[in-house]
Amino acid sequence: MSRFYVTTPIYYVNAEPHLGHAYTTIVGDALTRWRRLHGDDVLYLTGTDEHGLKIRQSADAAGMSPQAFCDSIAPKFAHAWERLNIANDDFIRTTEPRHHAAVQELLQRCYDAGDIELDTYSGKYCVACEEYYSDEELLDNDHCPIHKRPVDHFEEENYFFRLSRFQDRLLKWYADHPGSIVPEFRGNEALGLIRGGLRDFSVSRTSLDWGIRLPWDDKHVAYVWFDALTNYLSATGFGDSSVDYTQRWPVDYHLIGKDIIRHHCVYWPAMLMSAGVDLPKGWAVGGWLLVDGEKMAKSTGNVVNPLDLIDVVGVDGFRYYVLAETAYGSDGDFSFDGLVSRYNADLANNLGNLAARVATVVEKKCGGIGPAPRTDSPLAEAAAEAVAATTKAWDAVAPSRALEATWGLIRATNAYLEMHEPWKSEPGSDVDAVMGDALEALRIVTLLAHPAVPATTEVIWMRLGLSGSPADQRLPAATSWGGYAGGTAVEKGDPLFPRIKS
Ligand code: ME8
Ligand code: MG
Repeated sequence: MSRFYVTTPIYYVNAEPHLGHAYTTIVGDALTRWRRLHGDDVLYLTGTDEHGLKIRQSADAAGMSPQAFCDSIAPKFAHAWERLNIANDDFIRTTEPRHHAAVQELLQRCYDAGDIELDTYSGKYCVACEEYYSDEELLDNDHCPIHKRPVDHFEEENYFFRLSRFQDRLLKWYADHPGSIVPEFRGNEALGLIRGGLRDFSVSRTSLDWGIRLPWDDKHVAYVWFDALTNYLSATGFGDSSVDYTQRWPVDYHLIGKDIIRHHCVYWPAMLMSAGVDLPKGWAVGGWLLVDGEKMAKSTGNVVNPLDLIDVVGVDGFRYYVLAETAYGSDGDFSFDGLVSRYNADLANNLGNLAARVATVVEKKCGGIGPAPRTDSPLAEAAAEAVAATTKAWDAVAPSRALEATWGLIRATNAYLEMHEPWKSEPGSDVDAVMGDALEALRIVTLLAHPAVPATTEVIWMRLGLSGSPADQRLPAATSWGGYAGGTAVEKGDPLFPRIKS
C-alpha cells in the first residue's frame, strides 16, 4: 500500500475561517479522497498557526491571554472543516507539546550545522505577513505589497538563518526535481525568487515572548515562520525519538496559496537541507480567490464565511463550486451569482437531473429493478475516456479539469438518454439496454465525483441499490465498464440539488 501525505497551510488564528481557507482545505480533501479511493494510506494534515507577534497583538486587542485567545479560535477552524466534510486525519496546533519538540529539534540541527548565527538586523517588517521587506519590494510610502498597509521598522539582535548560502543548492535541487511544484508557472515564480538572490532571515525574536524558546538561548523565541513550517514535520513524529518520522516524511504535497511561496519553496527546503531532512516531494500552489478584484482577507475586510454559503447551496454545492470554478494555481473571482449559476448548471441540471431521470425511468419502465449494462455499450468508450482524463487531472492536482472530465461523462449520458428517449418507449429489451448503460455510467460517475461531492455520491450509490459506499471501492478496477451487474432495486428519492432561483 502506498502512503500519501498532504498538508494545508496552518491558518493564523487571528481571523476566523473564511472562503480562502476553505478553498485550499477542500482541494486537499478532494485530492486525498481521490488517493483513498486508490487504497492509499493517507495522512491529511491541517491545523492552526498560533504564535508570533500578529497573534500576540490580536490577543491583546481581545483582552485575552494569547493561549486563551488561540483556544477560542482554533476550534472554529476544526468546526468549519467538520461542517465542510473535510476528512483530515490530524489537526495540529503550534501550541502543542509535540510541535515544540519538533521545532526545537529542527532549530538545533540547523544551529549545529552552523547555519544559524547571531547578528543584528534592522529593517521594515509587515506584522500581517510576519515578514521583513526590502525597500524595492514595498509599495509607495512603505506599504506592504500584500496587505497594502504601512510596515513597521524593527531593529533587533536576532539569530539568522544563512539562507544566502543555499542559492546554488536550491537551484540544483529544483533542476534535479522538475515538476515538483505545480502548476509549472508557480514553480517558475519560486525559481525567480531564488535566482533573484537570497537574504539571510531572522529566526528569532527577543522583543516577543509568545513563541518557542531557542534550545541554546532562552532569551529568544523562534520566528513564527520557522516555527510554523515545522508543523509539517511535527505531525510525522519528528522530534520524538521513539517515532520513525520517515514512515510519513517526505510529504507528497504541500498545498499552499501563492502568497506563501517564498516561505514554502525557498525557506523551508533550505531549512530541511541544513538539518539533513529530505525535501518534500511536491508543492501545489493555488491562486487567490478575489472579491471585486481584491484578495479575500481579514485585513481587506471582504471576507465571505463559507458556512453562510452552505446554507444556500449545501455542503457539496459549495465544495463543487470551489473545486470546479477556478483552475488551481490561477486567481479566481468569487461571486454569489457565479456560485448559484454553477450550482444550477452542473449540479441541478446535470448530475441531479441524470440521477433523477435514470431512477424515474427504471421505476416506470423496468419495474424499479436496474437492468445490466451491455458490454459493447456506446457509452463504454465515453466512460473510459472520463476515467482516464479524471485520473490524469487529479494526478496533476487540477481539480477543475478532473471535474470537467467527470462531468463530460454526465453530459454524454444525458445526451444518450435524450437520443433514445426511453421514457417514450414501451418496456422491453431496448429500454433495458439503454437504462443498463445509463445506470453503469452513473455508477462510474459516482465514483469519479466522490472526492468532490462525497455525501451526494453516498446517496446516489445507495439509491442505485449498491451496497457499502463509493469510499469502499478500489480504483481503477471499480471504474471498469461492466462493474454494475444489474438486478438492484433503484430508488428515486428527493431531488439531490433542487434548482435555486437567483
Ligand atoms: O499564511 N484565496 O496563514 P493564513 C485563496 N499561517 N486562498 C486563500 C485566500 C484567498 N483569498 N486567503 C487565504 C498563513 N487563503 C500562515 C501559514 S503554513 C506553515 C503557515 C489560503 O491564515 C491560502 O492557502 O494567512 C493561503 O496560503 C493561506 O490560506 C494563508 O492562510
Ligand atoms: Mg495571510
